[in-house]
Amino acid sequence: MEYRILGRTGLRVSEISLGTSQTFRAAAREDEDICVRIVHEALDRGINFFDTAPSYWEAERVLGLALEGRRDEAIIATKANEKSAEAARESIERSFDNLRVDVIDLMQIHSLTAWREVTPVIQEYQRAGRVRFIGLTGSSPDKFPEMIEAMRTGTYDTIQIIYSLAERSCCEKLLPLAREMNIGVIALRVILNLLADRIPLHPVASPDSENDSAEEEKPKKLARAHAEGRFSFLGEYGVKTPGQALFKYVLSHPAVSTIIAATGKIERIAENAAASDGVVLPPEACTRLEGLLA
Ligand SMILES: NC(=O)c1ccc[n+]([C@@H]2O[C@H](COP(=O)([O-])OP(=O)(O)OC[C@H]3O[C@@H](n4cnc5c(N)ncnc54)[C@H](OP(=O)(O)O)[C@@H]3O)[C@@H](O)[C@H]2O)c1
Repeated sequence: MEYRILGRTGLRVSEISLGTSQTFRAAAREDEDICVRIVHEALDRGINFFDTAPSYWEAERVLGLALEGRRDEAIIATKANEKSAEAARESIERSFDNLRVDVIDLMQIHSLTAWREVTPVIQEYQRAGRVRFIGLTGSSPDKFPEMIEAMRTGTYDTIQIIYSLAERSCCEKLLPLAREMNIGVIALRVILNLLADRIPLHPVASPDSENDSAEEEKPKKLARAHAEGRFSFLGEYGVKTPGQALFKYVLSHPAVSTIIAATGKIERIAENAAASDGVVLPPEACTRLEGLLA
């Protein structure tokens, strides 16, 4: 596993990290056990950054359970998604309990919800030493203009955004601004909508779900390209699976600090972690990869 610095936080984060939306929806004890084993496998493979949120059903609680005894190996990022300061305070208090921690490394404002009202609450926790850094999430590109406005205030240490081979609009303004301001970038939705449709473990609507109908053709193009061996040119860069190609593509952007990838399968961790091997895709390989979706 290779590591990058998460912008001005100075935190050293694994290039491949673990998300918990949907896949950590533990409906039964067996689900919980799988989630715990996924977290332990991730830690054992060098993954040290974990993203969760109060709105991901049991995910925060199960992550807290999994990190019991291994807290020092993990950087924990969660979120507040509340419309008022008071509700945000209550949500943050519940997150400490769910995660079984006194200090949360990164508290993010989920989908930019009431960011002007919620930011002072998080800053109170920062002053008290209970939250280390503050970030923004805004997974869909229609949130980018508002995210840029918030970034320009200089208050935020990280952003969490959608960035993939299929969705590259963050490259226009957002990523250059993040670099200029030394804001850490957490990329999401690198796989979903390209190699996976809805997350199979719990096929229900996601709290983060968006209308992706226009994207329907892209997974088919990618699957066809793979079936026809048109990924094979990536072998010389250590790529063995389509997922690794998609991770390496996003990691080739220097503004990206880490990718949060979700999975409900323990064996997937090894595949995904192996995408971070220090071999960066050169621009010509990235362009060729983009061509597979054209
Ligand atoms: N802030 C926000 O608004 C927001 C929004 C969405 C997500 N998130 C965060 O981002 C995390 C990631 O979510 P995402 O929406 O970006 O999903 P994603 O990680 O792009 O996709 C997850 C899906 O991809 C599959 N997958 C994982 N690795 C794979 C591989 N190598 N090859 C093929 N399939 C693979 C998983 O299925 P298997 O179980 O089969 O591996 C799962 O169905 C979430 O868990 C959450 O923490 C935040």
